[in-house]
Amino acid sequence: MNKPIKTNDLPGVGKFHDDPNQSYTIPGIYYYDEEIYAREMKHIFANSWQYVCHVSQLSTPGDYAVRDLGDQSVIVIRDLKGEIKAHHNVCRHRAHRLLEGTGKTGTQIVCPYHNWTYDLGGDLKSARHSDEVSGFNPAEFCLSSVRAELFCGFVFVNLNSEAPPLLDGLDELEWEIRELSPDIDNLKRANCRQIPLNANWKNSVENYSECYHCPNQHPGLANGSLDMGSYQITVHEKFQSHSSHGVGDQTAYSKSSELEGEREFGSWLLWPNFVLEVYPGGYMNVFHHLPDGPEKTIQICEWYFPSETPTVEQQGVIDFVDGVRDEDIPLCETVQKGLHSVGYTQGRFVVNEKRSYFSEHGVHDFQKKVLQALGAW
Ligand code: FES
Ligand SMILES: [Fe+2]
Repeated sequence: MNKPIKTNDLPGVGKFHDDPNQSYTIPGIYYYDEEIYAREMKHIFANSWQYVCHVSQLSTPGDYAVRDLGDQSVIVIRDLKGEIKAHHNVCRHRAHRLLEGTGKTGTQIVCPYHNWTYDLGGDLKSARHSDEVSGFNPAEFCLSSVRAELFCGFVFVNLNSEAPPLLDGLDELEWEIRELSPDIDNLKRANCRQIPLNANWKNSVENYSECYHCPNQHPGLANGSLDMGSYQITVHEKFQSHSSHGVGDQTAYSKSSELEGEREFGSWLLWPNFVLEVYPGGYMNVFHHLPDGPEKTIQICEWYFPSETPTVEQQGVIDFVDGVRDEDIPLCETVQKGLHSVGYTQGRFVVNEKRSYFSEHGVHDFQKKVLQALGAW
């Protein structure tokens, strides 16, 4: 599954340019065309590290989580030796899905259809009446494995068996994250919200990749949490960093006195669709943009704290950020409608050299990577 060869089958990219200062945005058709979406699923989502869950959700053998990626589905599971394994979520008999959602299987994975039974490592252990089938070889029907790797306690899978390791090129990212959230591997998922969004996944990621809209659309964030004058977006080969000082005396949510020293905001977009954020006070959350069709995205919002039960103060932060997410929903959904308009062609990025909060160079960099992955540019 190598990178696609540059193709003329895709719509042109018009005035898109390597230099964000000169570049126009990519045309609207890239946000709703079914063939482009199918190409993205193949060349981006089946070819990149995709977030599934945190290790705390796989704490004992048999704990599992399923992640659907377009028409593919993957199980991650902790086996009896304590290792994390990943398998395609399909029975090798006649293709029934094996597991759904999250949960615990016990010591085996049993297909609901005809009860073929696999161990947690994927070996076929029993298939009723198969001893009556000539030449039946159970070893031929082990579950198909998928690569699973960890980053800061988060479990990712990659459908491309030849992709570079997840940690390649992420040393600096890991250092930045651990500086703001030193105990990240040992946190627990304390809250999860899924937002069904009527917008293409790129629209959702791009909304996240700039803060040009923050002062007018997120006044609570811009005035009550972050020091916008210090907000910076930095692009790297495999990720983007957003960083800012907090405003000090928080007005948007309360902070306990022992957290007074932790005033920094950091967030990181890991190519192509996974975001980790740490809010002033050390509060950490995941904001994952999962494609669910050409014009549908599921935003997965999760909070990680030392305990699974948020304190009153932590709940205050969750509620505050939920409000920010709510403010973004109509923005993405009205843009999605606008991208169909014949009155819209290609816009311009607003970029400044200091890469400040209002600079849209992060959106440009993201669009460039999408076009490159598709072979469109
Ligand atoms: S499809 Fe799974 S046992 Fe038949
Ligand atoms: Fe926003």
